[in-house]
Amino acid sequence: MTTPNFYITTPIYYVNASPHIGHIYTTTIADVLARYHRLLGDNVHFLTGTDEHGKKVADAAREKNITPQAFVDAVSAEFQAAFAEMKFTHNDFIRTTQPRHETLVQTYIKQLIDSGDVYLGEYEGWYDEGQEEYVTETNARTQDYKSAISGRPLTKVKEKNYFFRLSKYEDRLKTHIENNPQFIQPDARRNEVLGRIRDGLNDIAISRSTEPWGVPMPGDAEHSIYVWIDALFNYLTAVEAENRSEFWPANLHVVGKEILWFHAVIWPAMLMALDKPIYHQLYAHSFWIAEGRKMSKSLGNFIDFPKLQTYANDFGLDAVRWFLTRYGPMAATDADFSHDAFIEAYNQDLANTIGNSTSRVTNMLNRYLNGTIPGDQGEPDDTLQKAAVQAVDQFRGGMQTLKLADALANGPIALVQEVDGYIERTAPFKLAKDPANLPQVGGILANCAEALRIASVMLHPVIPHQMTELWNRFNLPYASQLEAGETAFNAWTEWGGLKPGDTLSQGDPLYPRYNPPKA
Ligand code: MSP
Repeated sequence: MTTPNFYITTPIYYVNASPHIGHIYTTTIADVLARYHRLLGDNVHFLTGTDEHGKKVADAAREKNITPQAFVDAVSAEFQAAFAEMKFTHNDFIRTTQPRHETLVQTYIKQLIDSGDVYLGEYEGWYDEGQEEYVTETNARTQDYKSAISGRPLTKVKEKNYFFRLSKYEDRLKTHIENNPQFIQPDARRNEVLGRIRDGLNDIAISRSTEPWGVPMPGDAEHSIYVWIDALFNYLTAVEAENRSEFWPANLHVVGKEILWFHAVIWPAMLMALDKPIYHQLYAHSFWIAEGRKMSKSLGNFIDFPKLQTYANDFGLDAVRWFLTRYGPMAATDADFSHDAFIEAYNQDLANTIGNSTSRVTNMLNRYLNGTIPGDQGEPDDTLQKAAVQAVDQFRGGMQTLKLADALANGPIALVQEVDGYIERTAPFKLAKDPANLPQVGGILANCAEALRIASVMLHPVIPHQMTELWNRFNLPYASQLEAGETAFNAWTEWGGLKPGDTLSQGDPLYPRYNPPKA
């Protein structure tokens, strides 16, 4: 049997701003999915990177009085440092200023010129200089001839440009989206795209003669390739330049909803034009707002990377990953990052549920049974075994459909809550008072430990740091097996992994409860 490939990407981030929660969020989601697929045993390739061309970047460099190259080097390094601090597990980090990228972008565009899908034409109409975007007459009118982003007046331009024959791919694209419901998700985003395609697709300008900070148009140094076109190619250049073409087509592009159109329409059409297979799935998540309002530096609710670092320092990386993954805007609605919600999630899910249950079970097992799974476990009782089968099933389904919040709530969290309920009902702490009950106590605690073991496997992609610690305490070799690529989610989530004689140690709480200072 061959190992399936799983190629997952994030957007490549603009270097005109420093990393913030939005960038960390998308990359966290991709990291969780990459780790999950490694756990499944897939051959994972996880790509992220920085988008370094275009006017906004050149302007930002000019403002700082440094060369664009020096500027992009510095900001890209900032992203890489932030991602290292988050312990993200990307396999590659692409920068669009790297020769490996630029060379291939030119090759692709050359191919499109030769095939006639890119042609020299003339554009006459409205232009948003700040955004480097052409604006249709209708949109310009509704925006009162001002930029929708900066509010500055649009300019009227007439210029020679290279165009991509997007209109040619309208039917094929529409049919593909209609026939493959998984291609663009969630459904709200898919419908949005279909609605707009039905309004018709026009050819798009893909070059700029006014911005030299970009990849030169092959054969015409007067023009550079529009930054968005250059950027989209990263997903392909990163694997083709490294002899990893076996990873193409990508399995999953994770992006934010504001860049849906480029990824859902322009990118697949370009792939069709290049005669390359198109990616399997695009998932466009929604946005974080903060303390109930759109994030902004002037409102003081902007969650930049240093702010996330304070949460990571106070609560651990797992806590940040947990909050983002379990309560984030994966679905079609935005999510609110509030300090109170963060604390609540930490205390409720990590401290009181996962951490507390682990402490209770390992403590009792150590107190009553020397920390050893006993051979004599009294009457068999399959309550938790049944709960575990169901939780794993729910978890798998949720991960498969990218309903991460449901996957976690109905998978591992539901299972740990079952463990707590089971302890309350069976009361091993009372039974243990009479030595005659020890076999029964042993059976109860072995069931609990086994259920926690299975929960920890499901939780590991999201909260890998303390789940690795749990594996250490349970003397499970999973971390090194994972490292060595000997992974098997199926085997590890099957009931019966802990055997009589296995020892489990206790330790400090995995997630100590946080008590906010009294006001
Ligand atoms: N450079 C382009 C993408 C090119 S991909 C071929 C770009 N870069 S960006 O730096 O602006 O990053 C945008 C991405 O950051 C969004 O698509 C999303 O993944 C993430 N986010 C930015 N702000 C966000 C929130 N407030 N909330 C969640 N994610 C958001 O666009």
